[in-house]
Amino acid sequence: MHSIRFHFFAFIAALLLILLVLLNTYPLISSRDLVFEEKRSSLSSQASVVASSLSGLETLNRPGVEEVLRVLDVSGLSRILVADGQGRALYDSGGREDGSGDIAAALSGKVVFRSRFADSAFASSCAMPISSQGSTVGVVYLCETDTERAGLILDVQNRIMIVSLLIAVLSLALVLLFSEVLLRRVGELVRSMRIVAAGDYAHRLAVRGQDEIAELGGEFNLLTERLDENERQRRRFVSDASHELKTPLASIRLLADSVVQNDNVDAATMREFMADIGSEAERLQRTTEKLLDLSRLDDDIQVAPEPVDLRQTAIDALVMLRPLAGEKRVAIHSRLDDGCVIMANNDDAFHILFNLLENAVKYNVPDGSVTLTLEHDEESVTLTVADTGIGIPEEDRLNIFSRFYRVDKARSREAGGSGLGLSIVHDAVLAHGGSITVGANKPQGSVFIVSFPRATSEETGI
Ligand SMILES: Nc1ncnc2c1ncn2[C@@H]1O[C@H](COP(=O)(O)OP(=O)(O)OP(=O)(O)O)[C@@H](O)[C@H]1O
Ligand SMILES: [Mg+2]
Repeated sequence: MHSIRFHFFAFIAALLLILLVLLNTYPLISSRDLVFEEKRSSLSSQASVVASSLSGLETLNRPGVEEVLRVLDVSGLSRILVADGQGRALYDSGGREDGSGDIAAALSGKVVFRSRFADSAFASSCAMPISSQGSTVGVVYLCETDTERAGLILDVQNRIMIVSLLIAVLSLALVLLFSEVLLRRVGELVRSMRIVAAGDYAHRLAVRGQDEIAELGGEFNLLTERLDENERQRRRFVSDASHELKTPLASIRLLADSVVQNDNVDAATMREFMADIGSEAERLQRTTEKLLDLSRLDDDIQVAPEPVDLRQTAIDALVMLRPLAGEKRVAIHSRLDDGCVIMANNDDAFHILFNLLENAVKYNVPDGSVTLTLEHDEESVTLTVADTGIGIPEEDRLNIFSRFYRVDKARSREAGGSGLGLSIVHDAVLAHGGSITVGANKPQGSVFIVSFPRATSEETGI
């Protein structure tokens, strides 16, 4: 938990250190170099003026040198030394500098310049040969100590140092503050995650601000919401499913008990009871089969989709429903276009058509009718099942695709319905990229419209 703060802090501190070291050295070094450069040119030009004036003398001796120096402006120098051709001092204004080495070098014809920055001063010196008729007759050695420039530079250095310290303290404090705030928010997120992980799906994180952490918090809340919803659905499903299974099981048990407990049941009653047990068992079987279909659709492990010609599927479903339609005195009309091919799997397509048509027949009125149309354009295939039946009240239309939802519970159960048919239809339609809507038929009844993306010629291979 603390390592991020440590890394962050160490990183910023290292960056600051590099920056401040650079700030404290580079400008000073370069301004020192500038001063050295300037000293070299001023001191050597002064030395060459003195040297050339002295070379004009007939003989190089102390009175002559003093005479020349009086005329020339040589103020501002800390030492002036003039030596003869053997390096003996003819004139020396006095000073602590040891110039013997430089003077010896100048006697061999070289100009020697030195400058250094020490003890809060620039100490510079220049030794220059005095030449007369091509030979070196002596040496001028000038020294200068500049404390003014050095003082300026030291002053700037001090200021930069103070400012640097201020910057360092301030930025480290800011970094600490910033990382504290950031980590506290991350900590809140982690705490929320732990709460949700412990099972409190109703928990939500209070999201503040607009930044990435806020975004993370928002995403976390969305995730939790979905988890919450899933959990609620799962619970509802389990309780609904057990309830659905419990009812026929209770009937079976009741029927079986009454057979067992009554000694003198006649054969006809016995048969009636057995038939009832059989039909309850059949209902159980239908429900469990539908539950299996649903869980297969939930699993998302879809068989690779293949081209399915809905016209053929519709004909198969219509054949299966003919007995029920006859029994209910419901007429089925159909208009099935060619080329209504979608990418799906045969079982799912059959479930969709069969369940919609079965409902349209089951929830119809005597002498009513069902109209099935199948048509397509370039991109989509549309399947419409319209009936003249009892209709679905508007407030129920949103719910009829939910598992175990029945509009009229008693009537539907009587008809053997489990309330799962439309949720299978709904899940299967979505699994194959389609959409489904329900509306009212005129003057009465319902219309279900399902639309699928039409299979392309590449997919069908035709
Ligand atoms: N065409 C329709 N006309 C009127 N009501 C309908 C129609 N289709 C569905 N319903 C209503 O919607 C409910 C849900 O339908 P669904 O097909 O999911 O379940 P079911 O028919 O009751 O049972 P199952 O199809 O599982 O045997 C039905 O109980 C019925 O009340
Ligand atoms: Mg149904």
